Amino acid sequence: MASGAGRPGAVARRLDESLRYDAPSPHIGRTTTEAVEIDGIVIPADAKVLLLIGAADRDPERFTDPDRFDLNRGEAPHVAFGVGIHTCIGQPLAKLEAELVLTALARHTETLAVDGTPTRQLNNWLRGFATLPIVATPARDVAR
Ligand code: HEM
Repeated sequence: MASGAGRPGAVARRLDESLRYDAPSPHIGRTTTEAVEIDGIVIPADAKVLLLIGAADRDPERFTDPDRFDLNRGEAPHVAFGVGIHTCIGQPLAKLEAELVLTALARHTETLAVDGTPTRQLNNWLRGFATLPIVATPARDVAR
């Protein structure tokens, strides 16, 4: 897989598509403070509710061909950071860190490819990799 070196301007959009496609935090919990009706189904007060972020970000009514990983997708915003009053407070920091790392990688590498079998970390809540072996070839014309 090519790294997209030389095109770091698209990093933010690519990051958003990665977060949409494979939510790092795929579900969050809530407790209802009052009865609520959603699509004709009543959830009583004081009920534990699991919100499936991963499913919401693959909603075919919101995203075209939602199971396709499309780095050029530019449609509805995803909910990987949650929504509402408890939306992720670290979102700007997470985006900044990822953007800096991915931009530096794109600038300093000609190609990046998976080199081996990645292993998932075992966690009931957060999705991520314990190992992700990659092979990179350095960019030839980088000003250091
Ligand atoms: C890719 C990285 C991250 C993802 C996908 C993520 C995702 C989320 C999600 C889904 C929630 C729950 C939102 C809700 O309950 O509606 C949340 C809450 C939160 N996140 Fe993050 N997060 C990330 C990085 C960070 C970082 C870097 C920090 C801190 C430096 C952070 C701090 C928090 C805090 C404090 C809350 C609780 C906010 C509240 O309950 O009011 N997160 N995050």
